[in-house]
Amino acid sequence: MGKEKAIRELEDLPGIGPTTAEKLKEAGYTDLEKIAVLAPHDLSEISGMSVDNAKKAIEAAKQATTLEYNTASKIYEDRKAIGRISTGCKDLDELLGGGIEAKSITEAYGKFASGKSQLSFQLSVNVQLPIGSGGLAGKALFVDTEGTFRPERIESIAKAAGLNPEEALNNIFVVRAENTSQQILTIERADKLIKENNIRLVVVDSMMSLFRSEFAGRGALGERQQKLNAHIHKLQKLADTHSLAVYITNQVMDNPAILFGDPTTPVGGNIIAHAATTRLYLRKSKEDKRIVRLVDSPNMPEGEAVMKITTNGISD
Ligand SMILES: Nc1ncnc2c1ncn2[C@@H]1O[C@H](COP(=O)(O)OP(=O)(O)O)[C@@H](O)[C@H]1O
Ligand SMILES: [Mg+2]
Repeated sequence: MGKEKAIRELEDLPGIGPTTAEKLKEAGYTDLEKIAVLAPHDLSEISGMSVDNAKKAIEAAKQATTLEYNTASKIYEDRKAIGRISTGCKDLDELLGGGIEAKSITEAYGKFASGKSQLSFQLSVNVQLPIGSGGLAGKALFVDTEGTFRPERIESIAKAAGLNPEEALNNIFVVRAENTSQQILTIERADKLIKENNIRLVVVDSMMSLFRSEFAGRGALGERQQKLNAHIHKLQKLADTHSLAVYITNQVMDNPAILFGDPTTPVGGNIIAHAATTRLYLRKSKEDKRIVRLVDSPNMPEGEAVMKITTNGISD
């Protein structure tokens, strides 16, 4: 006898031919999971096969549908090993539970000059710091969609962080995306670059600006959201596959439906809202101070931190 055939469908189960499979499907037993939980007598009754054969078929269905279980403590151990990148601001790091997290997407939204890009520069430098000192000992991929990447800021921030500024600049791969195709392709094709260069941070600054200008008007919204969805899922996939952190920035608009309180709402709709694991709302305060609000996090309470934008980067 050759190798046993993998069991994927009802027809692959021992003793179940196409006719029996059809009968079962008509009765609502459409997949292996449903067969696996049946009692032999019931399967026998529905299908007309003998109880003994039904037992064999159920056993095979069970084997083909084993689920993988993890204990919560195993997941906890794995989570503790997930790296974090310091933001440069102690309060903000605390708010985030130790910095922005690898394997997930952190979004910063806010008005013009609220500090979204400055934070992306700081993270691109800090990711290079040793593990345990606020970094992940890795490099950064920076997708600049607005033409606002500033190497001179990297230089100052790196110097202040005690890094060699030239090396720090060399460790950041910058792509200036002029349209959404370039933005999407950069991420689609990033696996090789990431692997070969130990990239541990991917920045998209900003996520929505090209999408908004290219897909203007109601008629284009469906296509925009579809492309955006695939794009952001690829970002999450990169995060998972390479244990890296993704930081995206987002623009805001005033939502007229919000009558009381702050009507400032990030753009991009549900797709961005669902895909971003952690959402930060940045807003201007006095002078160089910025208020950062943790809006959405799976494990940290909502709250606010104050950070400063200085020549040396983000600080307390
Ligand atoms: N070298 C610097 N020293 C201090 N502050 C700076 C420096 N460069 C930019 N900033 C401040 O950063 C702010 C712009 O933040 P930025 O992150 O670029 O905004 P956005 O949220 O639009 O991306 C400005 O208020 C500017 O004063
Ligand atoms: Mg910016």
